[in-house]
Amino acid sequence: MANSSESRHGMWSSRWLFVLAASGSAVGLGNIWKFPYITGENGGGAFVLIYLACVALVGVPIMIAEVLIGREGRQSPINTMRMLTQQHRRKPAWVLVSWMGVLAGFLILSYYGVIAGWALFYVMRMAEGTFNGASADFASQAFNDFLADPWQMVFWQTLFMALTVYIVGRGVVKGLETAIRWFMPMLFVLLFVLLGYGINSGGFAQGVDFMFSFNWESVTGESFLIAMGQAFFTLSLGMGAIMAYGAYLPSSASITQCVVTIAVLDTVVAIAAGLAIFPIVFANGLEPSQGPGLMFVTVPLAFGQLPFGALFGAIFFVLVSFAAITSAISLTEPALAYLVEEYNAKRSRVAISLGVVCWLLGIGTVLSFNEWSDVFVVGDLTIFAFVDYVSQNIMLPLGGFFIALFAAFALPKAVVVSQLGLKGRVWEVTWKVLGGVVAPLGVLTVFIVTIIGIDTIKDWF
Ligand code: PHE
Repeated sequence: MANSSESRHGMWSSRWLFVLAASGSAVGLGNIWKFPYITGENGGGAFVLIYLACVALVGVPIMIAEVLIGREGRQSPINTMRMLTQQHRRKPAWVLVSWMGVLAGFLILSYYGVIAGWALFYVMRMAEGTFNGASADFASQAFNDFLADPWQMVFWQTLFMALTVYIVGRGVVKGLETAIRWFMPMLFVLLFVLLGYGINSGGFAQGVDFMFSFNWESVTGESFLIAMGQAFFTLSLGMGAIMAYGAYLPSSASITQCVVTIAVLDTVVAIAAGLAIFPIVFANGLEPSQGPGLMFVTVPLAFGQLPFGALFGAIFFVLVSFAAITSAISLTEPALAYLVEEYNAKRSRVAISLGVVCWLLGIGTVLSFNEWSDVFVVGDLTIFAFVDYVSQNIMLPLGGFFIALFAAFALPKAVVVSQLGLKGRVWEVTWKVLGGVVAPLGVLTVFIVTIIGIDTIKDWF
């Protein structure tokens, strides 16, 4: 079934559904708990500029590469790479990239499901009014108590994973598309509501200042790494999720236009999330903290002090849950599509098996916060920290690097020209330079620097 114009798994009803689906994959926990904070910490507006450059110069070319490979093959990333390497007589080793992607998807989903479960739990806690007028001690104690209770965490993780399995099991059109049609517009509406709430909270000017005031002194060598890593994770690149989604993109759609729209949407959501979160934090005289602390302690605390805080706080966590589920479904697609193709298996059955494996792996993450908090895989990395580190800092960059190289050098020019609709030599050269040189070099630099460590590099000078 080489190079067919349709995928056996189904097709997005329009290019807009692809844009929404890929944006759903891109917009996730990374946008909401990570981007706002690292921006504030790494020089505000200056960091935003660096981040935008990473998105434009590395993120966009690699995403174009993924979509174009996916659409050319119209199968799961593994079979697509297998077919394309055979068809164009390239080394079969290229296929390893997509195997690594499948593995990365499993690893990321295993902990993603746990953290998304926390968000579900907090929808309930906020709606109950638990944090109304609460003290800072109470908010952090509440989070610590939750983390100390593996059964609670497993319960919410199970709920989230079950929902994910249910959606993906129903298929590309009935499952994925339906979820995306509902969740994405709601996500945008909720974000808009929260933005309005943030603007009126009294801390807007301070929030804007924290995120955007140009602060070149806070930009360090590491800021560049952080910006690149974030661009990568947030755009869901390097593991085949976007390649799998690209396989369902109608042939008539312009890949470049779709990809640019997705990158812009993802960035807008990340910035809007910051502009919704920080004003309420500052309005209460609180200090922004990082990661889990920001989302599960500071944010509930801040909402608890504000009028209608329980309602808007619950809305915030519904938003986080929607963002997480539309990312989670994309994390399963490469493996799911492959198993369906390989064993001619029923999608729903495969979905359940995959869900169970990820759920089991996720128990390691759950226990990393309590019973096994002193079990370290290497150094001081708990199971959760290790899985997070290896998938995000090693597997995704490596995957992205090879995907870009494959698209730029292993695929015949004619394939790329026709998939991207390149008209004229200027565009061909532009693609080659961005996809074949700038993007892989950018990733390679980050990859090496992350592994060696920025401090070691600083010592050299
Ligand atoms: N982009 C998602 C986020 O920002 C995470 C993700 C990574 C999803 C890789 C799919 C693939 O949270």
